[in-house]
Amino acid sequence: MNRLVIVSNRVADLRSNSQSGGLAVGLADALRARGGIWFGWDGTTSDDLAAPTVDDIGPVRTIAAPLTETDYNEYYVGFANSVLWPLFHYRLDLVDYRTEFHDGYMRVNERLAETLLSELRADDVIWVHDYHLIPFAACLRALGCRQRIGFFLHIPFPPPDLLTATPNHVALVEALLEYDVVGLQTSSDAANLKRYLAEQLGREVGEDGRVDVGGRSVLVGRFPIGIDAAAFAEMARLPSSDVELDTLRQRILGRKQIIGVDRLDYSKGLPERLSAFERLLSRHPELERAVSLLQIAPPTREDVSAYPTIRKELEGMTGSINGRFADINWTPVRYIHRAVPRERLASLFRASQVGLVTPLRDGMNLVAKEYVAAQDPDDPGVLVLSQFAGAAEELEEALIVNPYDADDVADRLYEALTMPLDERSDRHAALHRRILHQDARAWLEGFLARLDEADAAEAVCRPIPRTERLLPRAAER
Ligand code: G6P
Repeated sequence: MNRLVIVSNRVADLRSNSQSGGLAVGLADALRARGGIWFGWDGTTSDDLAAPTVDDIGPVRTIAAPLTETDYNEYYVGFANSVLWPLFHYRLDLVDYRTEFHDGYMRVNERLAETLLSELRADDVIWVHDYHLIPFAACLRALGCRQRIGFFLHIPFPPPDLLTATPNHVALVEALLEYDVVGLQTSSDAANLKRYLAEQLGREVGEDGRVDVGGRSVLVGRFPIGIDAAAFAEMARLPSSDVELDTLRQRILGRKQIIGVDRLDYSKGLPERLSAFERLLSRHPELERAVSLLQIAPPTREDVSAYPTIRKELEGMTGSINGRFADINWTPVRYIHRAVPRERLASLFRASQVGLVTPLRDGMNLVAKEYVAAQDPDDPGVLVLSQFAGAAEELEEALIVNPYDADDVADRLYEALTMPLDERSDRHAALHRRILHQDARAWLEGFLARLDEADAAEAVCRPIPRTERLLPRAAER
């Protein structure tokens, strides 16, 4: 089997599996099985770009390079998180397009590709992840790489109308055609990309998802990401004394808990979620002192201006709801603005009667799947899930809601809190089957199988003269 090279903005810490998400663990397992490299940013800024950190762990090498302060501001804070992230989450109002952001994005992609080049072997299979690195294959191709290269987009792909609202959209999508396989989370993401290719680039996309690009074919497909459901369920079963104590207390007081866990990101619909919870309490006074919302929302991307704004909004709303409803021994909203270890999250999911996952837009949302995996099959909780989370395409037996409609969410929350055991069990069993079927391994193996079978066009990696144009058109290669 060919070596696997994973490229992502952040490199997982392969020395401490327990801290990494299930996805990172799955990718690390694939790397260990095939041998290979995990390459990306080390999360720091430095003026000394000479030496990335190399760590060999058995057959796997991690290579992590720093960014300069300017690169960080233009590539990560700028183009990736102030242009692509809001744009791809349908938030044109938050897009802050600047030419220097685009230049920085291209510069960092080119430099990272150059850094990786000397590590590559002719028959490597390269798998690039997420919106930070869309032009990465084009940069490698410009350096002479002909290996198979796949791309997976973890976030949604917007409809053409939205995409065309930003400059450079043509170059961005043409850069995708430098890959051999382009994977998306849902059918609607895949349909959006296919529609863009047809309408904007005049490219015919076959029934089988293949696009012919100058004699080469690119496969565009849906590969819904999953979790290691069995491992997460095991984690949830392990006793966690403080969670057990809290559960006991809640049980004695006859209280139920709704849980939400999200990075504090505007795409997660947190203010809307709090409004819906407030609506639930105002409509059902009998739930006062009988139900609480535990919202865990660790900080993220605080250098991007939209994030401190959403933080302030959320803190204000929490204060106002608690001020309105709280009692001496009952706090309706418990808000934690810190990261919580995965083991603890798993126990908290199991101890919560409702999992509330209501993003305004989300690529997949693995929290929804983790909530299902963590439940006690004999007394499972109920998942309330946004219709705009990628996971809603699969998790049909959840209570599906419109996160913008506070009445709808409040009604479904009430339904979840009062649902009889037999219905909870039926829904959970069906959801559990789905997450076991489409788990992390199925996702990974499905994608790599398609990439492995792509035509390895003359697998060589040799420097070729740079052309004037940063991104050569796919058809010209
Ligand atoms: C999303 C993105 C990932 C990203 C993660 C954390 O899930 O799809 O690519 O790594 O958020 O964001 P951060 O900016 O902290 O890496």
